Amino acid sequence: MKIVMLGAPGAGKGTQAKKIAESFGVPHISTGDIFRANIKNNTELGKKAKVYMDKGELVPDELVVDLIMDRFSEPDCSNGYVLDGYPRTIPQAEALDSALKANNDSLDFAVNVDVPDEEIISRMSGRRACLKCGATYHTSFNPPKEEGVCDKCGEALVQREDDKEETVKNRLGVYHEQTEPLEKYYAEAGLLHNVDGTKNMDEVFDSIKIIIG
Ligand code: AP5
Ligand code: MG
Ligand code: ZN
Repeated sequence: MKIVMLGAPGAGKGTQAKKIAESFGVPHISTGDIFRANIKNNTELGKKAKVYMDKGELVPDELVVDLIMDRFSEPDCSNGYVLDGYPRTIPQAEALDSALKANNDSLDFAVNVDVPDEEIISRMSGRRACLKCGATYHTSFNPPKEEGVCDKCGEALVQREDDKEETVKNRLGVYHEQTEPLEKYYAEAGLLHNVDGTKNMDEVFDSIKIIIG
């Protein structure tokens, strides 16, 4: 099963992608998580990506496409994957299509998690992330058992650099301009499914399960 998650920053792509990955036994691949891990480990890729991420801008396509193609070659991708945060531009979607086509393969679903901009801002301000294991929390909607500590691995939780209000606004602008056109792209391919992302996390997951079976 090969799924692409679409949606604005903070719509809940990562939250839902983790649930899909667990239930369906496919890896959750988040380009944002991969970049953040590279930044944490101070790699060359991390240094390049950080410049764009801190401003809320997209990392250039060529850096992202190489990275994702490498990731697909790992053995855990043999039964599919759920992509979270990739593709984010039309050229990235085209690169994915041609890579799949070269293997006589194709995507199964593009799931768009729909949340209006006003709600995004409040979600982002409460988000807390574990940079060690990738778990995500929200101070009101999904708090950890002990404040500031990851339930899964005990690491201290942090607020993401790019979750400051000004940066979130810029990310939303970039999303509407460069990423939203993918809805039309996948609708024309007959793959697009919209879900109402304003419901609670379990309800959103229920709607996704109905779509992907
Ligand atoms: P990335 O990490 O992908 O960020 P994003 O798209 O901005 O998305 P987020 O991770 O912020 O949100 P999400 O939709 O995953 O929401 P979440 O589930 O956490 O990318 C970061 C940056 O990396 C980009 O800006 C760019 O610079 C770069 N980058 C990455 N990929 C790239 C690419 N392909 N090309 C170029 N550049 C790239 O949920 C958000 C919060 O809401 C959480 O606190 C959560 O607990 C809560 N929540 C979730 N669902 C609900 C719900 N139903 N009700 C209430 N609260 C909820
Ligand atoms: Mg995410
Ligand atoms: Zn953790």
